[in-house]
Amino acid sequence: MSDRNSKSPEVVLGVLLDGKATSEKIKLQIADEAEAFTKQSGRKPHLVAILVGNDGGSETYVASKMRNCEKVGFKSSLYRYDTSVTEVELLAKIEEINQDDDVDGLIVQLPLPKHIDPEKVTETIDYKKDVDGFHPINLGRMMRNLPCFIPATPYGILLMLQAYQIDTTGKHCVVIGRSNIVGSPMSILMARNANPGNCTVTLTHSKTKDLKAQILKADIIIAAIGRKNFVTADMVKDGAIVIDVGINRETSTQTKSGYKLFGDVDFEHVAPKASYITPVPGGVGLMTIVGLLKNTLASARKEIYF
Ligand code: GUN
Repeated sequence: MSDRNSKSPEVVLGVLLDGKATSEKIKLQIADEAEAFTKQSGRKPHLVAILVGNDGGSETYVASKMRNCEKVGFKSSLYRYDTSVTEVELLAKIEEINQDDDVDGLIVQLPLPKHIDPEKVTETIDYKKDVDGFHPINLGRMMRNLPCFIPATPYGILLMLQAYQIDTTGKHCVVIGRSNIVGSPMSILMARNANPGNCTVTLTHSKTKDLKAQILKADIIIAAIGRKNFVTADMVKDGAIVIDVGINRETSTQTKSGYKLFGDVDFEHVAPKASYITPVPGGVGLMTIVGLLKNTLASARKEIYF
């Protein structure tokens, strides 16, 4: 199922890793399992999100998370706060939700205003409800290959690789960006003794010397740097697998929403060199939601913690 560029037959695009089709298929399975859970327990899996402020990107992501919960038969609740909310108020709300037996998953959308310490927020969330997988207990357990909540975006990428039956064993994976949310956990997961996994991993960041030379060695590129079209064709080896995590928003007069999304990868020029590639939009972003839904269902079923 390889997409071909009809204008120039010698240019063969890589197989598109289709986040829309893949996420829809997995969500049907989740919906079936949620229905069975609800029948058996008399309650729906329940995700709570806390959103502070009015950041456009965060608004969109949280709305999508809530909408997708409803689609697969979960209950969802959203608590909104103005940016003036104090850290004490926010932590008290988290403690209250931690105690609520009707809640399976709790996420606090990041980034937070500067006066709120994200580390305190992350550590206050009960690790048994931490379906974002950001709590040090979940990250530590992930390092040791123990049952845990895996951060939603890296989890979504693993599910995408699995869906396309891509064998990552022995491959050289170069991760670009060392964020707590994507790059760092992704580097651990790709090196784990698992499939997907078993890669030799290079984790690159803003202080990496000769980044292009590092990326050129990659069999698998995972770009999570947050800069529009950062990865260009001259940085990519022929046949590389390219995973684009970037969601860079720019205002646009050409779209109904008033903005346009760009990945971290120059898709147009990189796709002809890649064996597989994710588009933006329609790639990793949709899989992130699936990772979050799977974690929430696993929490409701007490598959990770009791
Ligand atoms: N901000 C950007 N990505 C995420 C995510 O996966 N979870 C939360 N809570 N905030 C985010």
